[in-house]
Amino acid sequence: MPLVSMRQLLDEAAKGGYGVGAFNVNNMEQIQAIMEAAKETQSPVIIQASRGARQYAQDRYLYHLMLAAAELYPEIPIAMHQDHGNSFETCKSAIELGFTSVMMDGSLKADGKTPSSFEENVEVTKRVVDFAHERGVTVEGEIGVLGGVEDGHGAGGDGLDHITDPDQAVEFAERTGVDALAIAIGTSHGAYKFTKKPDGSVLKMDVLIAIHKRLPNTHLVMHGSSSVPKDLQDIINKYGGNLKETWGVPVEEIQIGIKNGVRKINVDTDNRLAITGAIRKVLWETPEKFDPRDYNKPAREAMQKVVALRMTQFGQAGHSGDYSPISIEEIAKGYADGSLSTAPLVAAK
Ligand code: G3H
Ligand code: 13P
Ligand code: ZN
Repeated sequence: MPLVSMRQLLDEAAKGGYGVGAFNVNNMEQIQAIMEAAKETQSPVIIQASRGARQYAQDRYLYHLMLAAAELYPEIPIAMHQDHGNSFETCKSAIELGFTSVMMDGSLKADGKTPSSFEENVEVTKRVVDFAHERGVTVEGEIGVLGGVEDGHGAGGDGLDHITDPDQAVEFAERTGVDALAIAIGTSHGAYKFTKKPDGSVLKMDVLIAIHKRLPNTHLVMHGSSSVPKDLQDIINKYGGNLKETWGVPVEEIQIGIKNGVRKINVDTDNRLAITGAIRKVLWETPEKFDPRDYNKPAREAMQKVVALRMTQFGQAGHSGDYSPISIEEIAKGYADGSLSTAPLVAAK
C-alpha cells in the first residue's frame, strides 16, 4: 500500500470512534517496532519525524525506510507525518520529500520557543494549508502552547501557561481550514509532565471537552501524551539510570479524550523509556557484550510492546483492513472540489 493521507486515516478513525497513536521515529529499529506492533494488532499507523529526527537520520534515509515499511506491510495504511514543523519552509521541504502529512506548529515562532501571536499563527498555518492541500497533504495546526522545553518544542513553564481558549480554537479552525487541531490542555513533552498523578487542576480535560462541544467534527490532537509508566521508569533506574519520580498522562484520560474528538495521540517518551531500559539491562547484566544487535533487538522488542499496547488502548487495533487507500492525487482533487471539507462544523455556545 502506498503511504496514505493522514486525513483519510483520521476521518476513518472518527467514523469508527477510535484514536490513532502517532509515534516518533529516528531510526530503522523504531520504524520496525511500530510496523511489527501494527501487524500484531492490525492497526493503521501514523509515523512521525520531528525536525530533530530529520536532521539526526538525514531525512532521505527516513523516507526510504518508510517506503520499505509500506512495501513490507502492504496491508497496513501508513501516514508519514512531520511533527512540529516550525515554519512554512520546514513543511514545504517535508511535502516535497514525500511526507503525506505535516504539522505547522505556528503556536510558537520559528525558534520553537517563543509563543507567537494568534494572527501570526493563523497566517503561517493558512499558508501551509494552501500549499499542502493543493498536493493532497494533510495539515495539523496548533492553538495554545504546550509546556516543557526538554526537546526544544514548547514555551517552557508548567503546561498551564497557555491553555487553549475554545473561542480561539473555533476561529483558528475556521480561518485556517486545518485537517487536525492540536490543543494545549496542560500536557508537556518529555518525561517530567506532572509531579503527582494528574487531576483536573493540571490536566484540563474540561477544556478539551469544551472545545469538542464547539467543534464536534474537528479531529483533535493530544501532544505530550506519554503515560511515563512506573515500570519503565523502574527498569531504567534498576540498571544504573537516574530518573526522578514523575507522572505522565494516564491512559484512561486519553480514552476520555478519544470519546470527545481526539483522533491523534502523540507518543514518543514512552518508547524512549522502553528502549533505554532494555539497552541498560543488557549492558548491565552482560557487560562483556559489544555487538549492537545484542541490545538493539531487545530494545526494538520493548518498544513494540509499548506501541502494541497503546494501539489497543487507543482503539485503532483491528482497523487496518477497514478501507482502501485514496491516492494523494484524489485527495488533492477532493480539497479542490470541496468534497473534502475544510470548513469546520461550529456548534453554538
Ligand atoms: O515533539 C516532541 C517529540 O518527542 C520529538 O522530540 O524533537 O527530540 O525529536 P525531538
Ligand atoms: P511525549 O513526550 O509525551 O511522548 O509527547 C510526544 C509528542 O507530543 C510529539 O509531538
Ligand atoms: Zn508534540
